[in-house]
Amino acid sequence: MKKIMDKIKIPEDFILGAAVSAWQTEGWSGKKEGQDSFLDLWYKNAQHVWHNGYGPAGATDFYNRYQEDVALMKEIGLTHFRTSINWSRFLTDYENAEVDEDYANYIDNLINVLLENGVEPMICLEHYEVPAVLFEQYGGWGSKHVLELFLKYTEKVFERYGDRVKHWFTFNEPIVIQTRVYLDAIRYPYEQNTSKWMQWNYNKALATARVVKLFKEKKLDQTGAKIGVILNPEVTYARSSAPHDQEAARIYDLFFNRVFLDPSIKGEYPQELWQLMDKHNITFDYTDAELEIIKANTVDYVGLNLYFPHRVQAQTATWNDEVPFHPSYYYEKFELPGRNMNPHRGWEIYPEIMYDMAMRMKNEYGNIEWFIAENGMGVENEHRFKDETNIIQDDYRITFIRDHIYQLLRAVADGANCRGYMLWAYSDNVSPMNAFKNRYGLVEINLADNRNRKLKKSAYWYRDLIHSRLLDI
Ligand code: BG6
Repeated sequence: MKKIMDKIKIPEDFILGAAVSAWQTEGWSGKKEGQDSFLDLWYKNAQHVWHNGYGPAGATDFYNRYQEDVALMKEIGLTHFRTSINWSRFLTDYENAEVDEDYANYIDNLINVLLENGVEPMICLEHYEVPAVLFEQYGGWGSKHVLELFLKYTEKVFERYGDRVKHWFTFNEPIVIQTRVYLDAIRYPYEQNTSKWMQWNYNKALATARVVKLFKEKKLDQTGAKIGVILNPEVTYARSSAPHDQEAARIYDLFFNRVFLDPSIKGEYPQELWQLMDKHNITFDYTDAELEIIKANTVDYVGLNLYFPHRVQAQTATWNDEVPFHPSYYYEKFELPGRNMNPHRGWEIYPEIMYDMAMRMKNEYGNIEWFIAENGMGVENEHRFKDETNIIQDDYRITFIRDHIYQLLRAVADGANCRGYMLWAYSDNVSPMNAFKNRYGLVEINLADNRNRKLKKSAYWYRDLIHSRLLDI
């Protein structure tokens, strides 16, 4: 690493940006009858997750206030801004891909304003925003018809914005919704079903490959644009070096990480995963032709969302064979004694995940280009940290970001092909888990005061980092 006094030089082309998603910021302003996403359905069925009455309806009102937000992004100096297009709002008719001109114009304007202000847009085609009606009618991503509709939607998006957007992603964390719904059964429709979970995983991996194919057919690859997927690999540590714990971690990794990393980057599923699916009778429906498409259409790069480590050990409970198969047949989670915690989110803070994942990308995934698409710290009641100038003094966030970027730069010095860091989040926003309870933003959204925006101390720190390209150590 290049050091200047007690600072590390950040490479000039290393992205320093921030992310949000459509549903978590836009609010329902302008939303039409029938344009609910799965997340809206989820919220309607779990009102308790609204925080003090604030939820996705108002969100941060980004839909109306994006110009003000882009001005703040410019002030901070973000080189890149990632958000999604809300599939459920981009169309008025999902079967025939009829575009909602109001929403599409808003996206047009947003992209233009970002570019005019020197902020590169990164666009994700789905950040949990599958239309609710497709979930109810066809079972969501369990259905290959929904996959076809996703392609119709994507085609319209490419036609409309392909001339300007250079960073495209199919999904954000494609494993998450079905994990909450079919493995954890904590979300509507609350059904534990590992086969359905696998089918969703497969259909989304196939959808990524089909979108990559479409991207090439539309010749977007010849415009300097790239297409990828944003994954949330769970950086997994076994409790001990004992063979049973190592095996638990290996299987955990197959089910939760390699299930997307391998088809997206290598174009095929690991043999061990095929064997496990076979053994437990959870193999998805596929055709050889589809597997060929996956093989021929791997992504250009990947975004990785890394927040905390996952620690597993071999399952200690005796499995009740009458319960349908669940991957936890093989593992259970454990908490490392003395770990450093973010108590607000219940997540361990362990910045070494950055370095460890980076080395894995280098050694196991052909050193494909990648970047951190999300990493950040959610904290409750941040207004208690306001100083006399009314600015939230979020030193804990500064330490968090610095420690994580440090580990990335260490990996880059060791040959990792990591191209940047996108903080979650540009501003406070609605979490699918708990609305506005935990705040992640560089920018405070003051809900009680007309959702006014105000930079936090971390925003000024990030601004200085972007300008100086020198990280304190
Ligand atoms: C990421 C998601 O996994 O974590 C975001 O992509 C989410 O959508 C973020 O908001 C923070 O998690 P949470 O559950 O605290 O909102």
